[in-house]
Amino acid sequence: MKNRHNLPMAAFTIAVFLMAGCGGGQTDNNVLSTTPAAAPVATTTPAAVPAEPPADAQAAAKVPDAPTGVSAAGGTNKITLSWNAAGGATSYNVYWSPSSGVTAATGARVATSGNVYVHRGLPPAADYYYVVTALNGSGESAASAQAFTATAQLDGSAPYGANCASCHGSLANSSATNKSVDQIMSALQTVGSMCGIALTDSQIADISAALTYNE
Ligand code: HEC
Repeated sequence: MKNRHNLPMAAFTIAVFLMAGCGGGQTDNNVLSTTPAAAPVATTTPAAVPAEPPADAQAAAKVPDAPTGVSAAGGTNKITLSWNAAGGATSYNVYWSPSSGVTAATGARVATSGNVYVHRGLPPAADYYYVVTALNGSGESAASAQAFTATAQLDGSAPYGANCASCHGSLANSSATNKSVDQIMSALQTVGSMCGIALTDSQIADISAALTYNE
C-alpha cells in the first residue's frame, strides 16, 4: 500500500528536480563552469518511466541528503551561492548570517527552487556565511557545510541609493536590474526624469555591476 501511493510521487519529484537543475545553469559567473550540476543526469535518467518502483519509491520517501559542494563567490554588492543538486530534492532553503557559525536555527531563511542563489543588495567588503538544506515531501535535510565569502570592495550601493533608489526601489529589489553601462547611459540621456542626474563613468560602472546578476 505504501509503494502504490509513493510511486506517482516519486516520478513527480524527480521531474521537478530535473527541471530545477536545468533552470539554474545560465549565468555568466565562473562558479557554475566548475559545477556540472544535474545536466548529465538529466539526459540519462528516464524520469517518468514507472518501471522500478522499489528503489525510486524509497528514495522519494526519504528526506534528501544534505547538499554538498556549497560555494560562495563575491561580487559587487552581491554574493552568488551555488551547490550540487541533491538527489530527491524539490527545493532548498538557504540560511545566511553576517556571523560565522550560521545554522538553520539562527540564519535568515530564503527558499529557492534551483541550486543557485544570488544574494543581492549587500554592502561592500562585508562577510556573509551560508548553509543550505534540501527539501522534499518527506522533510528538510540536515544543513550543508558552511560556505562564506566577502562582497567586493567596489560599491554600487551608495551611488545607487543616492541617485536611483527613489524611483527604482531598493538595490535588492530594483526595477532596473541587469542593466549594462550602455543601457544606463542611454536612459540617463533619454528618460526625461533622469536627465538631471550627474554621475562619473566609474559610478555608473559600479551601479551597473551592483544591478547585474543574471539569474
Ligand atoms: C526621478 C526618477 C528616476 C530616477 C532618480 C532614476 N530613474 Fe531610471 N527611469 C525612470 C523612469 C520614469 C524610466 C522609464 C520607465 C522605465 O523604464 O522604468 C527609467 C528608466 C530607466 C532605465 C531603462 C529601463 C529599461 O527598461 O531599459 C534604466 C536602465 C534606468 N532607468 C536606470 C537608472 C539608474 C541606474 C538610475 C540611478 C543612476 C536611475 N535610473 C534613476 C525614473 C528614474
